[in-house]
Amino acid sequence: MYLHGTSRINEKGHLEIGGCDTVNLVEEFQSPLYVYDEELIRRKCRAFINAFRDSGFSFQVAYASKAFCTMAMCQLVEEEGMSLDVVSAGELYTALQAGFPADRIHFHGNNKSIEEIEMALDAKIGCFVADNFYELELLNQLAMERGEVAKVLLRITPGVEAHTHEYISTGQQDSKFGFDVISDQALRAIQTSLAADSLELLGVHCHIGSQIFETDGFLMAVERVAAFLQEVKEKTGFTCTVANFGGGFGIRYTEGDTPLQPEDYVKAITSKVREEFTKRDIPLPELWIEPGSSVIGDAGTTLYRVGSTKEIPGVRKYLAVDGGMTDNLRPALYQAVYEAALANRMNEAADDLVSIAGKCCESGDMLIWDVKLPVARPGDILAVTSTGAYGYAMSNNYNRIARPAVVFVRDGEAEIVVERETYADIVKNDRVIKRASLQR
Ligand code: LLP
Repeated sequence: MYLHGTSRINEKGHLEIGGCDTVNLVEEFQSPLYVYDEELIRRKCRAFINAFRDSGFSFQVAYASKAFCTMAMCQLVEEEGMSLDVVSAGELYTALQAGFPADRIHFHGNNKSIEEIEMALDAKIGCFVADNFYELELLNQLAMERGEVAKVLLRITPGVEAHTHEYISTGQQDSKFGFDVISDQALRAIQTSLAADSLELLGVHCHIGSQIFETDGFLMAVERVAAFLQEVKEKTGFTCTVANFGGGFGIRYTEGDTPLQPEDYVKAITSKVREEFTKRDIPLPELWIEPGSSVIGDAGTTLYRVGSTKEIPGVRKYLAVDGGMTDNLRPALYQAVYEAALANRMNEAADDLVSIAGKCCESGDMLIWDVKLPVARPGDILAVTSTGAYGYAMSNNYNRIARPAVVFVRDGEAEIVVERETYADIVKNDRVIKRASLQR
């Protein structure tokens, strides 16, 4: 198993993260438990920001909060000088509650409601990333009613297909997101925005997908965006203040993954922008990006207790843990692959081939197919690494399973940042039927 960030094996042969023994963490906070390595998150933020500083471009690095949106995370990225990408009123509310400066918040989404737009206008957020003509019209009208001007980026789909799972690939023409460049949609969106009295067009945005390991997709996106902006300049005279190239920078889920470093992606994008924009005689824009997974993914580890085992001779050995698709939907949704180890027995030979099952009433609730561990016993602690992105974020209450707690660890200290859900939380929005016919 790859040891990320501050993770190490301590003198007791236990997995330690942020100076905290994971066995003690489970004793103190119970399981399952999401553990985040705060130092590693901060290192990732700094890597992106420093790479931009070196590039000479004006920039914003907006953390894509959808990957893991909690008040503590908003506080932390704010401290690191990041901006924030939100995609719903819920994420916006979380950020505002955490005291995140509204002018560094960018609001995404392909179907923002009137209430969401009103809430964002009330908060005076930095900009809207408009996704479609309906939104442009709505935003213009709502801003006009207030006598305000809303800043917008237009999300465009440049027709670049990232080599990734089809559900997380978004830059291709056939996508629910954004204005299509290949037909004349994107150009019309520029014209519409320029003509709208209550919109101030800052520029364009594109996001080609997630878990991208090469720079070529980003380079192609830069080239397509530059070509589009050249056409825009010729036809409308408009030049961008901002170009946003989204997120999607790949991370290591398993030992076999070989992600580039944040600075590699930033260098590739900044030098390509300089080359393409200069060549086309377009002024260099301010550059924005939106890393989600690459900030938070490998900083998260989920700790489970091992429970039952089922061995089918000659077929497979299932090892069940006290969580599953409720705390990590990615294996079921994207066939995502993870690594694991027994956190309380890290130095023992791992020669028992098992598959890790969740506890949900669903055959597809498998966390890992085929992983080698020491022969596990009930009560052992299973650590699954790289669960920081879209684990807690996509957690759910299937089977009315309560969501785990989240702790941040650093320098030997662990702090709860999300409490474990209680059974009372599970029924808190339920109401019993009061109709007379049901009363006996
Ligand atoms: N910007 C935009 C506009 C996005 O749509 C996304 C992700 C990001 C940034 C951040 O992408 P990241 O750096 O995290 O790859 N739930 C999936 C990924 C869906 C991502 C949706 N948008 C997963 O678990 O991999």
